[in-house]
Amino acid sequence: MTSSPLANLATQKAGLLAAIAALATLDDLREAEPAITGKRSILSTLQKSLGSLEPDARREAGAQLQEARREVEAALELRRTVLAAAARAVLLESDRLDLGDVVVGAVRWPASAGHPGLVASTQRALEDVFVGMGFTVAEGPEVESDWYNFEALNIPPAHPARGMWDTFYVDLGEPETVVLRTHTSPTQIHLMEVAVAADSLPIHSVMPGRCYRRDTPDARHLAAFHQIEGLVVDRGITFADLAGVIETFTRAYFGPDIESRLRPAFFPFTEPSAEFEVTCTICRGEGCRTCSQTGWIELGGCGMLDPAVLEAVGIDGEVWSGFAFGFGVDRCAQMRHQIADMRALIENDTRFLRQFS
Ligand code: DAH
Repeated sequence: MTSSPLANLATQKAGLLAAIAALATLDDLREAEPAITGKRSILSTLQKSLGSLEPDARREAGAQLQEARREVEAALELRRTVLAAAARAVLLESDRLDLGDVVVGAVRWPASAGHPGLVASTQRALEDVFVGMGFTVAEGPEVESDWYNFEALNIPPAHPARGMWDTFYVDLGEPETVVLRTHTSPTQIHLMEVAVAADSLPIHSVMPGRCYRRDTPDARHLAAFHQIEGLVVDRGITFADLAGVIETFTRAYFGPDIESRLRPAFFPFTEPSAEFEVTCTICRGEGCRTCSQTGWIELGGCGMLDPAVLEAVGIDGEVWSGFAFGFGVDRCAQMRHQIADMRALIENDTRFLRQFS
């Protein structure tokens, strides 16, 4: 009697189970799989050898082998599941973002919180100066009708003065009737209308906010920029009051060694009008690229309220008079911090931003 081909099955099976238990990674498992359960595996070889047995013996041996294969395959699947779970855990661990580590390990401590940008903090500083001088602060919309942005300010349609402002039109209503405000001056109109309706004159207010012009950005211009408008409507206001406010503001904001000057100019909504300039802080008046070699930087315009503007909002010019001014907030930040190129304000370079935290 020849010995059964399955005489060593128990030992062989134990060897396979031990080999499976020793597999350390999914890659190892994939590599070993053909040798454990594949066509050339010992189980398949044994399967083939059963062919030489008598039918009864073959059936019995076949069942035995089948049972051994089931056990080995189950062990292999279990190992696959365990190794896959371990691989996933390793992956998750390496992907984990430990926010605690980020803060604790950071070089800068305490961790830096966000802070207002330079333009926002400049606007607040300007408001503070004017509030200290007795002004209130008001705001108006950035999208205006043609009437507020131009007409009520004594700039009728087709008036050549409209060329002073390269305007962005909003596609709303009749063509060219809605604009992104080109200056903060329309807020004067809103304020005067409200004061007339509420019978609450006089007005001493400043109005900061964003404005838009179709300008190509350069060292002194941005297409979206900020202005602060000033408006005084009261009894017996003269040009001397205006000049005094401008001078007081300049010293308070820029310091005693920066001078201001008013130069005759034209604005449709004021008469007389002036341009308001301060010593260029980049070159201290010597002349440089930023001030186009003049030693002066134009901050904005100002003047006595034109009677046509008072009339447009229904204020009696016989009783009330006033002045207005408007100038660039970004320009003030540029001059106060000696920023040669204004485009730095919108580039969001953190090396720049950090200097003003
Ligand atoms: N709105 C003018 C501008 O943006 C500046 C200005 C000039 C404002 C004279 C005024 C003013 O209030 O009186 O160019």
